[in-house]
Formats: sequence, structure tokens, C-alpha cells
Amino acid sequence: MFRFEEDTQFLVVYTGSRHATSDDYRDFIARWSARLAQTEHFGVIMVSEPHLHTEEDGDGREHEAEITRLINDFRRDYREQTTRLNLGFGRVYAAEIIENYFPDVTTWEQAQAGLDRYARYNWAIPGRGFAHLLEAKAWLREQISQTPVATTTETIPLKSSQRVGLFYGSSTGVTEMVAYQIRDAWAVLGMEPITPINIGEVKDLAVLLNYDCLILGTSTWNIGQLQDDWEIVFTQIDSLDFSGKQIALFGIGDQYAYPDNFIDAVGILGEKLVERGGGLIGFWDSDGYEFSESAALVEDRFMGLAIDDSRQPERTKARTQQWVAQIVQEFALQPA
Ligand SMILES: Cc1cc2nc3c(=O)[nH]c(=O)nc-3n(C[C@H](O)[C@H](O)[C@H](O)COP(=O)(O)O)c2cc1C
Repeated sequence: MFRFEEDTQFLVVYTGSRHATSDDYRDFIARWSARLAQTEHFGVIMVSEPHLHTEEDGDGREHEAEITRLINDFRRDYREQTTRLNLGFGRVYAAEIIENYFPDVTTWEQAQAGLDRYARYNWAIPGRGFAHLLEAKAWLREQISQTPVATTTETIPLKSSQRVGLFYGSSTGVTEMVAYQIRDAWAVLGMEPITPINIGEVKDLAVLLNYDCLILGTSTWNIGQLQDDWEIVFTQIDSLDFSGKQIALFGIGDQYAYPDNFIDAVGILGEKLVERGGGLIGFWDSDGYEFSESAALVEDRFMGLAIDDSRQPERTKARTQQWVAQIVQEFALQPA
């Protein structure tokens, strides 16, 4: 069960040694959002304590979907307030966790980068990990005197003359990161610039029909489900006609933790778009991945780029660049 420690400067949550439940997160978010109604800056720190695995504790998966939903809702509703009042998210890891999960400089740096991306994505603030609570507090006190970081969310062009649209749904910022890598690789090839748009900002999916070519990205969540922001707009696809549209999909997943559902969301999205007349391009070889099943698989190829930034982060950029070169050809687009 989560335990909380609050004073005027900090909201500290201790994860406890059991798997977190959705009630834990509901409580945490309620406390956090209540403080956002005030005007004082405050730091948020999560202290991760080692799990004591017991039989009745289960593996925590039964709460996953609900927890994901709670965090995504909080991001959508409170991002502006968090960026104004929080300015930093600290995470403190018990020594045992650091030893097991981040035993060397490389893994520690990867964790730091992941945490920073996570905090920027969810709350538009920097994130950082620490071995001690006092260090986290000192860092957060420093952040209070900084100006807020810029958010990565771009405004949506209502009408676009661009031929290529890039949309993504992301719950912890990984798909967003890949979307920006696609944008960069696209520019390196001399193509007309494209702007990644978070599908969570799109109320009316008809906006997708403004483009001839679409690049759509989704992570997979909750064992074979669409990412939450895609889930919300998904049923709108049924009333849209994608005939004549060329669509390249990219998906993010974790092949070791979810080997029976690796990037399933790409399959869900791909099948639906084809049903609505869309043509898929950008198929990607499944060699180099280890998994049992994927709804995104057609014979031996994925319906789009597969990225596993949890297990193969060192391959993310090269895969993305190679795929971008491939889809530029398949879209039959010329440099600007
Ligand atoms: C609760 C939970 C469920 C997940 N389910 C799947 C899954 O079924 N298949 C898969 O390939 N990856 C799964 N993942 C891995 C995520 O897709 C992966 O962490 C991804 O990087 C998240 O990207 P995002 O931050 O853009 O949402 C899951 C992760 C979590 C935490």
C-alpha cells in the first residue's frame, strides 16, 4: 500500500513492498491534484521500495489497465497545472533495486533518460532518479528556481496542405520519442518537414483525412490493447473512409514481458484501417525479435515498424532510420 508524507514543499509517496493497486494510484492522484488547486510550487517524489513477493500478492497485473487509465487521465487533465507548479519529478530507488536493475553506469543512465522522458511526457517537467531522498529534495528545491521546460506537444494544424501526417499515441513518452526520431530521419532525407501530433490532442479523427500519406504510431498496453489515447478515438474510424490513403504504422512494445502480444496494437489499428479502405505500407521483417505471438504479424512480417525500447534500446534509432528510408520510397515521395 502507498504511504504518503506531505509538507509545504513536497508530496512524497512510498510504494510499499506490495504491488500497487488502482486504489493506491487513485489516492496518489487525488492528493497531487488537490495540491494543484493551490498556487505554491511543490515537488513530487516517488520512493520505490523493494517488492516482497508473496503468493496472495499476485503479479499485480489485474490492476494494470486501471492504473494506466488513471495516469493517462491525469496527464490529459492536469498537464498544464503540473508544468506550472511542479517543475520536477524525483524518484528514489532502494539500494536493492539499484543493484538489481541498474547495476552499472549504462543501465543507470538509461533509467535516468527514461525517467526524464516519462516526466516530460506526462507533466512537462524534468525527471531524475536518486539513491537517497535528501538528494531528490535538494534537486527539486533547485528546480523551483528554474523556468518551466517547454512542452513537446505541438498545436494541431486544423487544415493542412501537407501531404504527410504523423500521429502517435503514447502513455509514457516512448512512442512520442520514436515519433520525433521519425521526424528527424525524415528531415535528414531532405523531405518536406513533418510535425508529430499527439492523437490525445485530436478530438475529431476526420483530421487524418486531410493527408494523403499517414504515419501512425501506437504502443501496446494492458496485454494486447491499444494505447489509451488511441482507444478513446478508435471507434471514430468506423465512420471514416480511408480509401486512397497510404498508411505506415509503427508500434512500440516489450517482447520479453509480453511475448504473446508483442505490438498487438499495430495489428488492431492496421486491420481496422484496411477494413475502412486504407492501404498499408512499411511492413517490417520480424527477424531480430524474440516473441511467440503478435496480432501485427502477417506471415513473417509486422504490419509496420516494431520498436522495443525496453529490451533493445540500442537498436531503436537505426531501425527507425532504416524504416523511414523504406517508407519514403514506398510512399513514392521526392525530397522537397
Ligand atoms: C501494464 C503494461 C502492459 C503492457 N502490455 C504490452 C503488450 O501487451 N504488448 C507489448 O508489446 N508491450 C506491452 N507493454 C510495453 C509497452 O508497450 C512499452 O513499455 C512501451 O514502451 C510504452 O510506450 P509508450 O510510453 O509510448 O506508451 C506493456 C507495458 C505495461 C507497463
